[in-house]
Amino acid sequence: MPVPRSILGTQDTTDMDLEVIAGTWPDDVRGHYVVSTSDQRTRPRHAFFGDGIIARMPLRPGPDGRFPWRARVIDTPSVRLRGKRPDLFTAGPVGTDSPWGFVNAANTAPLPWGDRLFATWDAGRPVEVDPVTLEFVAEVGRRDDWRPAMDHAVLPLVSTTAHPVVDPERGCLWSVSRDVLTGTVSVVRYDGTGTRVQRWEVEDAALPQATHTITQTRDWLVLADTAFKIEVEEIFGGDRTAPNNPDGPVLLIRKDDLVPGRGTVGCTQFRLAPEVNHFYARYDDSDGIQVVMEHGEGVDIGMYLREDDVDVHGRPVDPALRGMYCHGMAPALTTVLQFDPETGRITERARARDAERWWQAELSAIDWSIEGQTAPTRHHLVYLGFHPEAINRRALRNYAGRIDPSLFPAEETPAVLVSHDREDLKALSEWTFALDDYPTSPSFVPRGRGGSRYAGAEPGGHDGYLVVAVHNDDRFRVELFDAADVGRGPVAVLAPPNGTTVPFLIHSAWMPEAVPAPDVERLRFADDLDARLDQLEPDLAATAREVAAELDAR
Ligand SMILES: [Fe+2]
Repeated sequence: MPVPRSILGTQDTTDMDLEVIAGTWPDDVRGHYVVSTSDQRTRPRHAFFGDGIIARMPLRPGPDGRFPWRARVIDTPSVRLRGKRPDLFTAGPVGTDSPWGFVNAANTAPLPWGDRLFATWDAGRPVEVDPVTLEFVAEVGRRDDWRPAMDHAVLPLVSTTAHPVVDPERGCLWSVSRDVLTGTVSVVRYDGTGTRVQRWEVEDAALPQATHTITQTRDWLVLADTAFKIEVEEIFGGDRTAPNNPDGPVLLIRKDDLVPGRGTVGCTQFRLAPEVNHFYARYDDSDGIQVVMEHGEGVDIGMYLREDDVDVHGRPVDPALRGMYCHGMAPALTTVLQFDPETGRITERARARDAERWWQAELSAIDWSIEGQTAPTRHHLVYLGFHPEAINRRALRNYAGRIDPSLFPAEETPAVLVSHDREDLKALSEWTFALDDYPTSPSFVPRGRGGSRYAGAEPGGHDGYLVVAVHNDDRFRVELFDAADVGRGPVAVLAPPNGTTVPFLIHSAWMPEAVPAPDVERLRFADDLDARLDQLEPDLAATAREVAAELDAR
């Protein structure tokens, strides 16, 4: 049973100290590894929908030679309200509901912005946390500014992206807000201070399913419909019966057209197939708008495993995998596409498809510095392998005709870390994990320079290290690879005491420094409380005010 059963455990996720158990930890690894995850102790129906946990580990050892991993549940207003009345929170197929509204789980991706740190997810505003203590600092922007997909007395459902982008030249954060009924989408801009965000509705466009990722070039924002369908029937207790759309729109929006106060913005539309999940633009667009697209054919992340499910081979799904997403049903496809806003045409510049490399779900490792994004050299991808025990027949049924079961390997296959050339997607180097290893999103750590600089001496993604957290039922590990030669295997491995495991980690990131969150004007939870509180029973309204007072008193 190679998918580790510990990944959906309810073990404590707090602090532990890791030691070098193999290899030699190089002296020039710097900064901090940060990672987001979902608290399985909140018993989410889909493993991705538990309350947000963020963890940080410095990449230099402490005086005792050990690496302190520190994790905490982000004490958002949602979490504080749940702490006071856990009985009133109900886990559903798309998240957690309560009389106050919809929980902002903030559990998907850490997003460093200079020395600041945010935690994101697709159904709530970004949440700023303190990089040192990992405590909640603030949610980004008044709720009405975002135009929630569903409003509630206190906690709105904001349908957005778990991957907003930091604009290195305009000094802002770009995100989106989507109307879940119509698919109408808006661009949202946060300038880093204050209680407000700006919003522009994109004219004559709709993204029908989701916006898990957005990306940017110097002059353009790239939005795309991503493969995660919400089904109304499922929300009301029915089965998930429809597959994700096989294609979808891509919208290009010129940043200069996002004029303050205008309220709407135009776009250029493209139609893209097959469907996509994560994508990454080259920041320099002087030679065209080029995007690495990780396609998600035969991948249905929204489908989660149930106790009554049967797997590919007709065996009952292990209840220990309850809530895990259904694993990929097709080999992975990655492309480099060029979008021409003049002609509306898409040109394929490169393609990676290998029947041996079985689907990708993780966020890939790239050099996120402006220098690295301007001239990227490598794209480091984790392919998770074929895992028939984690594919249910409900998904196979929904994708009949869309997937080819004759491509299924006879046996499970291990995960592989591959460094692709960023231009032609050629596999330059690869490392195969043991069959019972479950690697998570890799992060790139540039070599050289130091201080709070994001870029290394040789930006692009080839000069430095990759940090990969690996689940295994025997022992959790953090592996360090040479980004220029992952095929050597890990140059050093860190691990907590034998037998220690941690629940499923979602996305990770790297930041050069961990300093306290700066003192700037931000949204207070109290700012979000208004006459809508009157919709609630008086004691529930009082509880919301109590949480606001606690947060103000910090
Ligand atoms: Fe993601």
